[in-house]
Amino acid sequence: MAHPFPSCRPIPLAAAALTLAACGVGAPSQPLNPPVPSPSAAEAPSAFDDRSNGMVDDSTHQADQTAFDEVEEIADGLGPLYNAQSCRECHQNPTSGGPSQISELRVGHLGPDGQFRDADIPIARGAVVISGRTLVNDRAICPNAAFPDSEIQERVPDTETIRTTRLALNLLGDGLVEAVAEQTLIDLAREQRRATGGRIHGQVLRVPIVEAPGHTGIGRFGWKDQHASLLSFSGDAYLNEMGITSRLFPEEVTDLCNTVAEPNNTPDSTGIEDVDRFTRFVRATKAPARDRELAASPQAMRGSALFDSIGCPLCHVRTLTTAPAGTQINGGTFTIPPALGDKVFHPFGDFLLHDVGTGDGIAVAMAEHYGRKVYQVLWKELVRDSILHARNKVRTAPLWGVRLRPRLMHDAASLTLRDAILRHGGEAGAVTYRFTKLPRSGQQAIIEFLKSL
Ligand code: HEC
Ligand code: HEC
Repeated sequence: MAHPFPSCRPIPLAAAALTLAACGVGAPSQPLNPPVPSPSAAEAPSAFDDRSNGMVDDSTHQADQTAFDEVEEIADGLGPLYNAQSCRECHQNPTSGGPSQISELRVGHLGPDGQFRDADIPIARGAVVISGRTLVNDRAICPNAAFPDSEIQERVPDTETIRTTRLALNLLGDGLVEAVAEQTLIDLAREQRRATGGRIHGQVLRVPIVEAPGHTGIGRFGWKDQHASLLSFSGDAYLNEMGITSRLFPEEVTDLCNTVAEPNNTPDSTGIEDVDRFTRFVRATKAPARDRELAASPQAMRGSALFDSIGCPLCHVRTLTTAPAGTQINGGTFTIPPALGDKVFHPFGDFLLHDVGTGDGIAVAMAEHYGRKVYQVLWKELVRDSILHARNKVRTAPLWGVRLRPRLMHDAASLTLRDAILRHGGEAGAVTYRFTKLPRSGQQAIIEFLKSL
């Protein structure tokens, strides 16, 4: 592996701040000031116990989980194009809301101007072209008894030359992530630049809030930071993963083979829709808990200190604090409740986009993620950030719960923690170089530490 910064030296760890070595090139080193929790902030609960974090009572949480776990059939509105029958199918390890080994397919191509274009996928023997998306659905509801001769399966055409797989993500604790103030993320990006002379420069991406037309927020969900709001993401997933429309995404991806109305996008007896239940479920989950036994082992503790001293937390930020309860977010549509406000949590991520040399080249597909209406209104304003800058960037993978993920990185192509670390180039090149310069026992200590997360 070629390293861009061959003259790196070991760097000291100051008590409250990280110091980056002058590493071959770039500005002189500076301390990185991690965000400081406010004195009033309390530690957020963490566990895999299927109980609410306090946002709702446990019976409401369990009812919401039942909706998240529900297996949908054609009669429920499944498809016509879909990837799986329930949210749980892809978000389950070790319990509902966790990640899984399921990955999905995304493709696109470059236009004559060299700019990224969303995929055009012909289906129905070429009669219809699905456009405005990068997702390729792996399943379709027909042919079936009602449509024995229909053929609507999506497949990757030879013309879509930019291709990747993307792993399903963890959702446990994501209510905390949603409640982090925008300014916290902006400050973090600025700090990274300052501390590393611009070498590490997380990008914040402004994205539409689907439930608040005309409003944007700083993206923090998805491998590409394509959503700021869990309600927006739930609507997006219900349509694009399962083929089920909602008030947020009222249009089917295709009407071929579609016989049923969509019974899930009407409010239930408590006045809410499925997408509201999924969202409330995710918001009320507890953060992934650490392996306390391993965390207390001498090797993991040594690894923890080395993780800090070589600069991993420049991106894998240990601790973040949410905005105070009562703060309105998502274009004023959600007020942070006491269970999520002013909470300290440990995601080991910055929720910013970086180029660490692994980018899949796929830009955020506006029509797919925000609906066709938003696409028309906001395309011009957002095209610059989302397409020109972020195409080869990936959100720092939050490392909470990483011990429960046997496949790593966005494309699941790294199967060991060491391989995942050694794949980091680009903005992370200097930090990776320092990892390779540690004695083998130091490298192993960092890996033991990761296994405690
Ligand atoms: C076929 C598998 C699959 C199904 C079904 C599925 N998801 Fe996902 N989910 C994914 C993948 C893959 C990602 C990462 C997508 C990306 O960024 O490219 C993801 C990401 C997410 C995220 C972002 C998490 C984060 O921290 O960034 C949320 C929220 C989410 N899904 C919610 C849902 C909900 C709610 C449902 C049910 C309506 C659902 N998903 C159904 C595969 C799935
Ligand atoms: C410049 C920012 C940056 C630095 C510095 C950095 N990482 Fe990462 N890390 C990322 C990004 C971005 C990803 C996701 C890359 C992808 O999926 O293609 C990632 C992914 C990972 C993963 C895979 C996690 C998963 O769930 O798939 C591990 C493990 C990891 N990093 C560990 C480390 C360690 C250990 C260090 C220090 C030696 C480090 N990283 C330094 C940005 C960084």
